[in-house]
Amino acid sequence: MSSLTPPSFNVVVLAAGQGKRMYSDLPKVLHPIAGRPMLAHVLDTARSLGAASICVVHGHGGEAVPAAMAAPDLRWALQSPQLGTGHAVLQALPRLDPSCPTLVLYGDVPLIRAETLRALLAAAGSDALALLTIELADPHGYGRIVRVDGAVSRIVEEKDADDAERAIRETNTGILVAPTAALARWLPGLGNRNAQGEYYLTDIVALAVAEGMPVRTAQPGAEWEVRGVNNKVQLAALERIHQRNLAVRLLDAGVTLADPERIDVRGELLCGRDVSIDVGCVFEGRVELADGVAVGPHCVLKNTTVGAGTRIQAFCHLEDAVVGADNAIGPYARLRPGAALGREVHIGNFVEVKNSTIADHSKANHLAYLGDATVGQRVNIGAGTITCNYDGANKHRTVIEDDAFIGSDTQLVAPVTVGRGATLGAGTTLTRDAPAEQLTVSRPKQISIAAWKRPIKRS
Ligand code: UD1
Ligand code: CA
Repeated sequence: MSSLTPPSFNVVVLAAGQGKRMYSDLPKVLHPIAGRPMLAHVLDTARSLGAASICVVHGHGGEAVPAAMAAPDLRWALQSPQLGTGHAVLQALPRLDPSCPTLVLYGDVPLIRAETLRALLAAAGSDALALLTIELADPHGYGRIVRVDGAVSRIVEEKDADDAERAIRETNTGILVAPTAALARWLPGLGNRNAQGEYYLTDIVALAVAEGMPVRTAQPGAEWEVRGVNNKVQLAALERIHQRNLAVRLLDAGVTLADPERIDVRGELLCGRDVSIDVGCVFEGRVELADGVAVGPHCVLKNTTVGAGTRIQAFCHLEDAVVGADNAIGPYARLRPGAALGREVHIGNFVEVKNSTIADHSKANHLAYLGDATVGQRVNIGAGTITCNYDGANKHRTVIEDDAFIGSDTQLVAPVTVGRGATLGAGTTLTRDAPAEQLTVSRPKQISIAAWKRPIKRS
């Protein structure tokens, strides 16, 4: 028995099924786990194994699947109509290199691990059939591995099995490795005279045995690796398992999670040392949290970098933002695309920042909108300050230089510049540049009328 992974192998991913019980217009394999199509997870795993070629068998949903998953390294085979798993692999056959073995995977079995597949490939070598099997307490619905004197002799589907066969607990996961030349011999001759009228891939096992080809088996490290998705309940269950696995990976790397059951990572989350994350946070795309970052409860961070020592309080939403070190963000802050904050910046509650840079030590602590602004160092933005960056047709920039003080409830009508060290009085509507170091205020003069009397209600 050759124990080495063959240097080269094909992968076929079956992804033609309809997924009727998803009750969705989206083809089943495009339903997401951790924000990405199930099929994408399978393809990642196949790529990580170093597959020589990957062919996806699609059918239901037509071109929607190839369109969604388009990549230069993929080959596609259309299976229409879908006449069974054996028929599906047969469609891929012309796209496979006959000189190396073929690994069959499933677009709706998203969590299969590379190490399990490596073991299966090693078991198959270049000239044997290898099946990934698993003992289940409740094997109902699965194909059963029939053994004679310990050796695999065939697979029988649940619907074709007799009582004795149904009692077998070793089941077929569907994942297998076969010599491709043998598939070319076997698949065209498969029959469909069975309970489901389908061309069963599983029938190749008996054919291999008849030829005297060794049939070997391997088992996954965990049961969830081979779980398939047929409905939203199963999809949600695998999502939780996947998230739990990601959470454990973070914990193992030293990240503090308030509750590993209440974090969702839909992308790549990179954490430094002593990072802590409270409950209910969602991370999307690529998020980087440097050393000592603390993320409060119920924050959403997408494609964002956060510098060392920054604290993000509860209920913040950050997207395409770059946050410097030692910032205080939130609660209830929103950083939109293009927000770039320096060191020790404070962004408080109900402050929205978009396409703006805010330099070191500046603060906007309450109820403000900073859009298309360049804010210098040590600037104080008062409560209720708004950059009027949009004139209905075009966007304009606001420049606020170092050490400026923007009084509360100020509107900065862009394009406009506030000079270094300038002060704007509260309530100012700034339509022209404010000179450095001066107080600028636009406000009707306050008057008091001594003789004024409140009206009295007439009876
Ligand atoms: C199959 C196996 C069974 C195994 C089970 C594990 C066969 C005959 N049976 O049964 O032994 O225990 O998987 O889940 O292989 N597909 C296509 N084209 C088709 C038919 C299926 O692409 O014509 C795809 C489906 O989308 C699905 C996968 O193949 O992803 C399995 O098909 P399914 O019909 O669900 O097979 P099972 O009856 O579950
Ligand atoms: Ca199935």
